[in-house]
Amino acid sequence: MFNKTNLLVVGIFLSIVLTFSESAKSDFYLPTFVSQTGVTTAVRPNPDSTSEVRALCEPSGIPQFNYSHVDVVVVMLSPVCVTQQTVKLLRFNFNFRNLIYVVKYKEFCPYLLSLDDSVRCLDENDVLPGVSYKTLSAPGMSDNIKKLQGDNNRIGWYFQQYLKVGVALTIPDLSDHYLIWDADNIPIKPFEMFTEDGDAKFCANPSSSKSRSYGRFYKHITGRELLHPERKGKVYNFVCGYMMFYRPYVKEFLSFVDDYVQRNRPRDTLAKRGFPWSIHSVAEELFPSGTMFSEYDSYGSWVMDMHPQEFAMDYHISYVRNPTTRKSGANGPEFKEGMHCCLTHKRICALGKELSDSPHGKLGPTVGDHHHILIWEEHKFRYRRKDYCADPLPPKLAEAIHEVGTGMVFQNQKGRGSAPSDGT
Ligand SMILES: *[C@@H]1O[C@H](CO)[C@@H](O)[C@H](O)[C@H]1NC(C)=O
Repeated sequence: MFNKTNLLVVGIFLSIVLTFSESAKSDFYLPTFVSQTGVTTAVRPNPDSTSEVRALCEPSGIPQFNYSHVDVVVVMLSPVCVTQQTVKLLRFNFNFRNLIYVVKYKEFCPYLLSLDDSVRCLDENDVLPGVSYKTLSAPGMSDNIKKLQGDNNRIGWYFQQYLKVGVALTIPDLSDHYLIWDADNIPIKPFEMFTEDGDAKFCANPSSSKSRSYGRFYKHITGRELLHPERKGKVYNFVCGYMMFYRPYVKEFLSFVDDYVQRNRPRDTLAKRGFPWSIHSVAEELFPSGTMFSEYDSYGSWVMDMHPQEFAMDYHISYVRNPTTRKSGANGPEFKEGMHCCLTHKRICALGKELSDSPHGKLGPTVGDHHHILIWEEHKFRYRRKDYCADPLPPKLAEAIHEVGTGMVFQNQKGRGSAPSDGT
C-alpha cells in the first residue's frame, strides 16, 4: 500500500506540522506574543493532577474559584523543583487563564511550557523595549546602587518590580485584571481574590519598618502620601508576595508618575525617557539614603487614594514560611543540610498546617485547617551559600540550567547574577 511517494508525502506533512508547532511555541519568546486564538480560552485543568491535589489538601472540598478571565504573571530567575506544583495549584484552585512566566534566560522556557497548556513564557529582556538587566546596569544608570548594594542584587530586584507593573503596558492581550504572583509562593488552597462587584481584593500584611522607606520614595515620585489600610488600630501594608493588578489603574499610576517626575526634575534627562527610567532615576538618586520603591505598596496606596470604592482588603490571608527548614528551632542555622526541596502534593498539604513564624507572627491556619500560602524559598536552599537540597532538580530543568551555566547565574556573592527571590 505505502509506496515511496506516499511515505514522502506523509513525511513532508509531518515535518510541516512539527515545524509549525515548534514555531508556535517559539512565538512566546517574542515581546508581542498573542495567544494563538487571540481571545480568552480557558484551558481546563488536567483532571488527573487536579483531583489528586484536591483530595490531598482539602478533603472537605472548599470551592475552587473560576478566574478564567485572569492571567497570572510570575517573574522569576529560573524555575525550581516546586514550580511544577505551583503551576498545578494555581490552575486547580483558581482556574486562571494564562500563567505567564518571565524568566532570566529563555532557555528555561521549554521546561516551563511542558508543565501545563496554560503556561506562556517570556525572556525578561524582551518585555519592556530597551529595558534589560544590561541597560539598567550600564554606566551612569545604577552607579550608586552598584556601589552600595552589597550582596543583594538590587538592580535585578528593581528590574523585577518594573516588569511586574510594566507588563500592563506591553503585553497586548494581557487580561484587564492580572495577578502578580511571587515565584516562592505556593497556593495551598483556594481563596477569594475579587469582591462581589468584581473589584480586586488586596491582602493585608502587618506593617513593618520597611514601609517607611517605601513612603518616602512614593512621595518623591507622586508628591502624595503613601496610604496604609488600618484595622482595629493596627497598620497594615500591601506587601504580600502577590497582588491583583488592574491594567487601567496601573497605566494611570505609571503615567502620573512620569508626569510628576518629569515636571519636578526638569534637568533629569533619564526621567524624560519615561517608565521605568523615571522611577529608576529616582531609585538611583535615593539609594544611598536607603529609600526604595515597592511596587505592591505603591500600587495599593494609589488605588486606595484614587479609587477608594474599587477595592477591598482581606485581613485573613495566612502564610507559613519555610517550615521545618531549620536545624534546631528558631535559633538554629537557617537551612538544614540534606533537605528535601522538591515537595510532593502530600508534603505541601502537610506543611500547610504548620505554625508559621516570621513575618506574620505565630499564627496557625485561619480558615479550615491549612494556611493559604506556603512560602518555600527553594532558590535560597539551592543557591544562597551552597546547595542544601538532597534531591536533584527534574532532569529537563537541570539540563536547561546547565546550558545557561549554573555558577554564572546564581552565585549571589559573586557578582553577575541572581536577584533576591523575596519579591519585595
Ligand atoms: C469558568 O467561567 C467561564 C466564563 O464564565 C466559563 O465559560 C467556564 O465554563 C467556567 N469554567 C468552569 C470550570 O467552571
